Amino acid sequence: MKEKILEILNNNVGKSVSGQLLAQSLGISRNSVWKIINKLKEDGYNITSQTNAGYTLNASVDIFTENSINSHLKNEHKIIIYDKETSSNTVAKRLASEGADEGTVVIVNSQTAGRGRMGRRFISESDNGLYMSIILRPQISASECVNITVLSAVAVCEAIEETSGRGCQIKWVNDIYIKDKKVCGILTEATMDFELGKLDYAIVGIGVNLSAPKGGFDKEIENIATAIYENKRPCGYKARLCAKIIEKLFEYYPTLTKKDYIKKYREKSNLIGKEVNVYIGNEIESGTVTDIDENASLVVATKGGIKKYNSGEARVRKNESD
Ligand code: BTN
Repeated sequence: MKEKILEILNNNVGKSVSGQLLAQSLGISRNSVWKIINKLKEDGYNITSQTNAGYTLNASVDIFTENSINSHLKNEHKIIIYDKETSSNTVAKRLASEGADEGTVVIVNSQTAGRGRMGRRFISESDNGLYMSIILRPQISASECVNITVLSAVAVCEAIEETSGRGCQIKWVNDIYIKDKKVCGILTEATMDFELGKLDYAIVGIGVNLSAPKGGFDKEIENIATAIYENKRPCGYKARLCAKIIEKLFEYYPTLTKKDYIKKYREKSNLIGKEVNVYIGNEIESGTVTDIDENASLVVATKGGIKKYNSGEARVRKNESD
């Protein structure tokens, strides 16, 4: 109730909202509204009460709730927000195995064990980022799974650009970059139904750095990580971006197997034309990236001829000795 009242006041910031209207919208008494408003004031919210006129929130607050995200969406989504958990992918997996619907979005404000690709840690313990996982149940085989990551990368890239005006690029296969530094990583994890030979469910985990941590990024990532905003993000931005990612992802999702998004993925690539090292397990291959093909494989011109990679990691070579 506290959050709902705050949200209504926030949507009418600077204006007076009557106790009667708040009570009616929430199906509670005016006395309960009054008590909740007092609690909000105790919490430090700048609210003025005027007899017979109502309540005014004097300055906007950054609200991040299921409702505030849904208020930006045409179709309401099932969204569940947790304050602190190990990882949104872990929670989403549990919910999916218990039968959660396709499209369910799990958000964790602070992850104590956020993870990235190749068993890496994904630092995500603060409110500076958006950490979300989406449950999907596409009827595809394991080999087609990469398309989920590719589609999601295009969706996230466009969502960041449209909400912040900052230009983004995609680093094959799952990273979003702003000006040569990583701003977002995507981790898709899937479970197979072996009897049907198809996917049971897939979890798309998306981690976006919204603003740089106070005092900067950790030493281990300061040269490679960036955030959408250098300082404080605009009020309400986290909810707006989250909604835009959901909107974009589900716009592209019906074309998962048709792969219309590959063209955009290729256009956004920051590797085409670059000299790279491709790491596949313990092997390293060097060459020039010439294309990303219809299967989202990285096409590399190596000394041994053209090679295509559908997994692994590519790093741009800074000099001959790399
Ligand atoms: C990578 O950079 O290798 C992928 C990072 C993916 C991070 C996101 S944050 C939300 C979801 N929960 C996780 O534990 N990981 C993903």
